Amino acid sequence: MRKPDTPTARRAALGNTILLGGLALLSAALLLLHAGVLRWRDPGAARWIDATLVLSAWLGLLGWWRQQRLPAPRKLLALADAAAAQDPLAVVNGARVDAVRAEVGVHVIYAGQTGFAEQLARQTLQSLQAAGVSARLHGIDTLTLDELRHADRVLFVASTTGDGEPPDMAQAFSRLTMRQPARLDGLRYGLLALGDSDYEDFCGFGRQLQRWLEVSGARALFDPVEVDSEDEASLRHWQHHLAMLSGVSDLPDWQAPKYQRWRLTERRLLNPGSVGEPCFHLELQPLQGSANWQAGDLVEIGPCHAPDRVTTWLAASGLDGRVPVAFGKERLPLAALLQRCRLPEVHEIDGLDEEAVAVTLRLLPHREYSIASLPEDGAIHLLVRQMRGRGGYLGLGSGWLAVHAPVGAEIALRVRSNGNFHAPRDARPLILIGNGTGLAALRALLKARIAAGHRRNWLLFGERHAAHDFLYRDEIERWLADGRIERADFAWSRDQAERIHVQQRLREAAGELRCWVDAGAAVYVCGSLDGLAPGVDAVLRDVLGDARVEQLRVQGRYRRDVY
Ligand SMILES: Cc1cc2nc3c(=O)[nH]c(=O)nc-3n(C[C@H](O)[C@H](O)[C@H](O)COP(=O)(O)OP(=O)(O)OC[C@H]3O[C@@H](n4cnc5c(N)ncnc54)[C@H](O)[C@@H]3O)c2cc1C
Ligand SMILES: Cc1cc2nc3c(=O)[nH]c(=O)nc-3n(C[C@H](O)[C@H](O)[C@H](O)COP(=O)(O)O)c2cc1C
Repeated sequence: MRKPDTPTARRAALGNTILLGGLALLSAALLLLHAGVLRWRDPGAARWIDATLVLSAWLGLLGWWRQQRLPAPRKLLALADAAAAQDPLAVVNGARVDAVRAEVGVHVIYAGQTGFAEQLARQTLQSLQAAGVSARLHGIDTLTLDELRHADRVLFVASTTGDGEPPDMAQAFSRLTMRQPARLDGLRYGLLALGDSDYEDFCGFGRQLQRWLEVSGARALFDPVEVDSEDEASLRHWQHHLAMLSGVSDLPDWQAPKYQRWRLTERRLLNPGSVGEPCFHLELQPLQGSANWQAGDLVEIGPCHAPDRVTTWLAASGLDGRVPVAFGKERLPLAALLQRCRLPEVHEIDGLDEEAVAVTLRLLPHREYSIASLPEDGAIHLLVRQMRGRGGYLGLGSGWLAVHAPVGAEIALRVRSNGNFHAPRDARPLILIGNGTGLAALRALLKARIAAGHRRNWLLFGERHAAHDFLYRDEIERWLADGRIERADFAWSRDQAERIHVQQRLREAAGELRCWVDAGAAVYVCGSLDGLAPGVDAVLRDVLGDARVEQLRVQGRYRRDVY
């Protein structure tokens, strides 16, 4: 590679030339001292060893000296910045400033609950590395204040859960590290905050993190990027910042993970006669290739409108649904495209023809569902509750899966890894606590444990009436009878006069809970965010104490997938 031609480089080249010239003259002078013919004589083993030792010591000294001359990463970057302000091609410590920046590296830290933050953090890492920037990925649960103090540039990808709360993996960081300002004067950071504006506290945790970084003296590399749902424009904005950071003009666009084509092969009502909304067991099979996943993973499905909704919209707009239109690389009838897209207000598309309308359309947002099966089952199983709002509206995702999509219909689906809810790697006891459709993920975890031969499984499950809402009853009773589930407690909230929930069952079994946790058990909670999650958390704290619960969380032995 050609060395840059700068004043510093020219001075270094001149110095090297003078030194080499001097050494050549010295060797010539020494040669003159030998009057006779030069003859080789073996100096003997002892002298060879002495010479080797002296040479090694000399090389070691040179290495040490060079190391001492290398400035610390932060100082090196400050030098690079100062030099770049004068001359973008300047050389610092023998390398061009953009190379210095790339070498010092970036830490990418994610804080997420259900895998999206981690996925985007990984994409961020790959983009940086592809641009030649050295970068490392960590979860916020392993991040210490000391590491932050020594880091130079950090990119955070942080989601929000609950009502504006940090994800579980960021709880300790938020409660302990962010409790007060830290001294992070030299730190520069970028922030990608993930959220959903349907929630009152939009990007709540991302904003808390940003405020803390600010009062701690860290400097923002650029304005925080907030992503509403999976908004592509904000993600492109983030990629633009990554390109600037990497010193490249552009980075290839991230491809949103593509949906795969699946077929709905079975739909079975699991709670006939329930006073609650219907709950369905669904089975789906891939139309192309195969899929892989682990217990705890999720699917994202691309919902569709009910066909009559599209027909009504087309009638109101006066457009012909049979006209083929372009959408990305696809060409399909307008009616088929409309089924998968947000339907604009009719007045918004006034005067546009079918092709022009297609250009304005945006896909409906995805919906997440826990996978209730293992790949060995030969199909993805879902447990979906049909949601209905006060006005009688069917929910978008659950309406499509539970009502509108006929068995045999094609479903747009992609699997999303959810590392936070993967089963423990070892045989430790597992306490699985859930209610309602939360049983989906617990069922997959139980299947994985049973397949691995781990029998120390304790299930606590709650629903309304044992007679109607005991989802997957036969299977669970069989596992219990076979000893594959060691213990099960059920809370049928409406089978008696006063309401009983899972958290009460857990409290009643406080002694047993302590024994299981003492034996190394992990606690997995899946189900409703209101009620179950805070209720179980309160019981765990009462029975085990705050410090023990925090310890469990930090050790990855207390995990939640609540929604
Ligand atoms: C990690 C995770 C795992 C999950 N796992 C599961 C699972 O295993 N099983 C499961 O069933 N769910 C699961 N969910 C929940 C699921 O993702 C959806 O949130 C749920 O199905 C509701 O979405 P929807 O699209 O049907 O309802 P939405 O369309 O989001 O609507 C929500 C509510 O508002 C009402 N509504 C919609 N439009 C209107 C309107 N215009 N006016 C008035 N009211 C309206 C709907 O009727 C519904 O009651 C999970 C969620 C997460 C985050
Ligand atoms: C149970 C639940 C609660 C949420 N609460 C909020 C919230 O209070 N504010 C917000 O902006 N987004 C909220 N979100 C949206 C998430 O932050 C968003 O979907 C994010 O992309 C999830 O990323 P993750 O998978 O890495 O956790 C919530 C999502 C869920 C499932």
